[in-house]
Amino acid sequence: MSGIPRHVAIIMDGNGRWARRRNLPRAAGHRAGGEALRRTVEACRDLGIEILTVYAFSTENWKRPRAEVEALMDLIVEYVRKEREELIRNNIRVVNIGDTSGLPAAARREIESIVAATSQNTGHVLCLALNYGGRREIVEAARALAQKAARGEVRPGEIDEDMFRRHLTTGDLPDPDILIRPSGEMRVSNFLLWQIAYTELWFTPVLWPDFGPEQLRQAVEAYRQRHRRYGGLSLEDA
Ligand code: FPP
Repeated sequence: MSGIPRHVAIIMDGNGRWARRRNLPRAAGHRAGGEALRRTVEACRDLGIEILTVYAFSTENWKRPRAEVEALMDLIVEYVRKEREELIRNNIRVVNIGDTSGLPAAARREIESIVAATSQNTGHVLCLALNYGGRREIVEAARALAQKAARGEVRPGEIDEDMFRRHLTTGDLPDPDILIRPSGEMRVSNFLLWQIAYTELWFTPVLWPDFGPEQLRQAVEAYRQRHRRYGGLSLEDA
C-alpha cells in the first residue's frame, strides 16, 4: 500500500475510563492498555509502519496517586520482560526518549537492558516516551546548546533548526507523520511539541484499551486521504 506513514505517534489515553466503566481498579485499565500496545506493535509491523512512538508516562504523571504510579511502573517492567524475546526476534529496536534516570531502579534497569539488547536491530523502532515532557525536552536541548556556546564549541549564530533538532531526545528519528489520540480528548498534552509541527492529527473516541488493528487501519486510511503541503501549495492549488 502506498502512502503508509513512516512514523506513527500515539497518546495512549483512556485507560482509567475503560476501567471505571467496568468497575475495575485503574490499574486494570493500564494492564489492558499494555495489551493494546502489544497488539498495536504487531499491527504496525503488519502494515509496514517503521516507527511507533507511544506516550507511556509523562513528567506530569508523577502527580497521580502513589499506588497508581507504582502499578504503572510494575506494568512497564512486566511488559518489557514479557515482550523481550518477541521484540528481539522481530528485529525491533527499542528506544526511550524520556528521562530514564528519573525512573525507579527496577524500571530503569529493564528499560536500559531492552534498549541495549535491541540497539543493533534494523527492522522497526518502538520508541517509548517514558518520563517524558515536550517542554522539558526543548528546555534541555536549549540548555545543552547554551553550555556548548559558553564553552566556545558552537557559535550562537550557527544554531539553526537542524542543530536544535539533533539536541532533542528524538535525535535522528524522523518527525511523526501522524499523531493518534484515542479516548475523545483533543489535546497534545505536552507530547513531542517540536516534532509535530507538520504532523497530521487523528482522534478517535475509542478508549486506548479497546484500540487495535482496526483503529490503526482507519487512522492510516485517513492519513492517506489528506494532502500534506508543509505550508506550501498542493499541485491543484498552484
Ligand atoms: C492514560 O490513561 C494512560 C497513561 C497515563 C499510561 C499509559 C500506559 C500504558 C498504556 C501502560 C502500558 C505501557 C507500557 C510501556 C507497558 P488515563 O489513565 O489518563 O485514562 P483516563 O483519562 O481515562 O483516566
